[in-house]
Amino acid sequence: MKEASELSKKNALVTGFSSGIGFEYSKFLSERGWELSLVSQNKENAIAAYKALDNPFSRYHLADLSNYEGVSSITDEFRCPDLIVANAGITQYGNAGSLSQKQKKDLFYLLCLGVIDLIEHYLPEMISRQSGRIVIISSIGAITPMPKSSIYAAAKSAVFSYGQSLSKELLKYNIPVTVSLPGYVHTNAHKRAGLDHLNQKVPKWMWIQSKKVVKETEKASLKGKSKVIPGIIYKLVKPFLQISLANSIWNRITRRKG
Ligand SMILES: NC(=O)c1ccc[n+]([C@@H]2O[C@H](COP(=O)([O-])OP(=O)(O)OC[C@H]3O[C@@H](n4cnc5c(N)ncnc54)[C@H](OP(=O)(O)O)[C@@H]3O)[C@@H](O)[C@H]2O)c1
Repeated sequence: MKEASELSKKNALVTGFSSGIGFEYSKFLSERGWELSLVSQNKENAIAAYKALDNPFSRYHLADLSNYEGVSSITDEFRCPDLIVANAGITQYGNAGSLSQKQKKDLFYLLCLGVIDLIEHYLPEMISRQSGRIVIISSIGAITPMPKSSIYAAAKSAVFSYGQSLSKELLKYNIPVTVSLPGYVHTNAHKRAGLDHLNQKVPKWMWIQSKKVVKETEKASLKGKSKVIPGIIYKLVKPFLQISLANSIWNRITRRKG
């Protein structure tokens, strides 16, 4: 039987909680008294992160979210949350045509279709309650070309577009949907993808901290904004990203090897 204090707690479902932005988001919510339903795939990473969070009102679940079975195992495990933070993801690079069919499908599912499946499982209950919040962590790659990461950029763009439409559709139910479009963030993502060289190549001023991403994303979500680009530098750069000269400078600075 749950204590009264537990029953009154808000519950957030955070995917990809074991490191980077997801860990920082979980920490931010923990510090504000949230109960957490946490998901990631690697057991060791999950245990370490779970211990570090030290939130007695949290549970973690292991699932590979690059396929439907993984996503539906979450929905079997956790009840409808008050907040969904769809964050889990990897960065990918490789020349166009170099990824196998399975790599492309898994990546697209993890970054886009799986996010949609997750959200749409809980949506009917959120709509019937007329409450809830949804946050999707996309990427600045959704709105700017990313040579050698084309599938990543395409999936991030698709999930951005989904979130923008959903945001309008759910206005009348009082359910804000916010898509966050971070630029370069200091996390494990680039190392995991074999893109370590970007830590040196991309100038310091282009990197932002996970903490900043979380703070600005939560602020935007609580204000009901449909999108947010965290970090002043990216806000300034954004209007120029569609101009070809600015775009070619951007691509030179962030060029992926190979
Ligand atoms: N870092 C950046 O510069 C940047 C920029 C823009 C957008 N983003 C986006 O931000 C999100 C978080 O990435 P991050 O930078 O914080 O990277 P990160 O530190 O590598 O964290 C990624 C998280 O996602 C989980 N994850 C990865 N693949 C998974 C899978 N198949 N199933 C379940 N969980 C999985 C990881 O869990 P395990 O430890 O269990 O693998 C980990 O908890 C991603 O969607 C990424 O695309 C990052």
